[in-house]
Amino acid sequence: MKIKFNDAATGDAIAAPAYSGGALSDAARALDAESGGALARAVKASRFTGASGQTLTVSAPQGMDADRIVLFGLGDKKAVNGNGLEQAAAGVVKALLTTGAMTLSLLLDGAAELEGAARAGLGAHLAAYRFDKYRTRLSDDKKPSLSAMEIVVSDPKAARKVWKDWEPVAEGVMLARDLVNEAPNVLGPEEYARRVKKLDKLGLEIEVLGESAMKKLGMHALVGVGLGSAQESQLVIMKWNGGKEGDQPIAFVGKGVTFDTGGISLKPGEKMDEMKGDMGGSAAVVGLMAALAGRKAKANVIGVIGLVENMPDAKAQRPGDIVKSMSGQTIEILNTDAEGRLVLADALWYTQKEFKPKFMIDLATLTGAILIALGHEHAGIFSSDDRLADQLFKAGKASDEGVWRLPLGPEYDRQIDSDIADMKNIGQGRLAGSVTAAQFLKRYTNDLPWCHIDIAGTGMYSGAKDPRLPTFGTGYGVRLLDRLVRDNYEA
Ligand code: BES
Ligand code: MN
Ligand code: ZN
Repeated sequence: MKIKFNDAATGDAIAAPAYSGGALSDAARALDAESGGALARAVKASRFTGASGQTLTVSAPQGMDADRIVLFGLGDKKAVNGNGLEQAAAGVVKALLTTGAMTLSLLLDGAAELEGAARAGLGAHLAAYRFDKYRTRLSDDKKPSLSAMEIVVSDPKAARKVWKDWEPVAEGVMLARDLVNEAPNVLGPEEYARRVKKLDKLGLEIEVLGESAMKKLGMHALVGVGLGSAQESQLVIMKWNGGKEGDQPIAFVGKGVTFDTGGISLKPGEKMDEMKGDMGGSAAVVGLMAALAGRKAKANVIGVIGLVENMPDAKAQRPGDIVKSMSGQTIEILNTDAEGRLVLADALWYTQKEFKPKFMIDLATLTGAILIALGHEHAGIFSSDDRLADQLFKAGKASDEGVWRLPLGPEYDRQIDSDIADMKNIGQGRLAGSVTAAQFLKRYTNDLPWCHIDIAGTGMYSGAKDPRLPTFGTGYGVRLLDRLVRDNYEA
């Protein structure tokens, strides 16, 4: 979807806002007058109340340039914010996407300053996303017709400048979604690493470590997970040097299990296909790095992703195996399906040792238990640092990618202590499964300020009501972390 800015409406559909109580905005009132009162009549005859998320489409009467007029709700006029504008624009795009309308003009009526216009652009972009690359027989009437949205503002040039700061975020989210939605026979660790490598065109510095390099570093926890796969595991390191030279970087680490069968502790068959999305944490890191590079963020940022495929095979690791991690700590593997923490253990240790960052944040589709606790609506965060947790919470509110904090604590350690190794990779039964997983990760942070984000619920979501979200891969984390960096870590 192309987003443009103009000072007059030229689209074949025109959308204008209304507020609570069905109150027409000035822009909508002008359209109403132009259409001989068609809008006010339509509102009266419908159940449209101007509530946020509602739309009402009216055929434009003869004499108007546009073919249709869309009223969209923004709710309480005094409470309109960036997220509301994103959602409203997304709702309009969803309502028109496959209707035959090709271009849309969005009137905002001063409801938004320039940043608000850009947020509307972001929402529209997110709503237009589809993963159609494998649909070879999609009939023309099912394909999206809408290809461009023009946001009408008084100063298009200034709006375009602000949009330069947001378009890369939309593109980063889209990239993350594409990676999550991609088929697991196509996107194994090797192909994934190749795709990330191509992002060097954005100015990212990218390095890929294969299995022999990782073994030399002692990363047997990570490498062990991929032993049953026909593909080599990969560690991909991305660097964005947009800050001052020599400034200590910040670091993001992602779980990239390109498919999680559970390994020898095989998962049941039902919905196992969804485990193609078990690389959602890594996809968020890749999308974030692309976004930061695309908008030339003024910060030094490291992204590290561990890419492995967890398969059962004669060479696969077994329950009972003991591996030594890069940190020197040994792990008794009691369930090969608790593999994400093994990947992150080495990726986290490597990151803090190699880059000495200010902090590390990891993202992972780590536990089914986080879905039980928080559903698809919040990610769980676990942090050794109150300030970082607080910053993430605020970034979650600002970006509408919500997080909720859960505890860590030494009282959980006994659940993961092993009788014959330094730790085991599962806790006791199903008690506090997301917490014991986080407590495990903490042992690989070397006491650096750190936060773990469990996105098993938010990273994959089919059937979301939010018009910004597609089915399945949500790209969760890109907007959240872009916001965190934007608000706290740029010069
Ligand atoms: N990738 C899964 C977690 C998951 C489950 C993500 C459902 C998204 C949806 C993870 O590797 C896993 O299998 N975790 C186990 C851990 C258990 C064996 C301790 C789980 O959550 O059941
Ligand atoms: Mn698993
Ligand atoms: Zn997994």
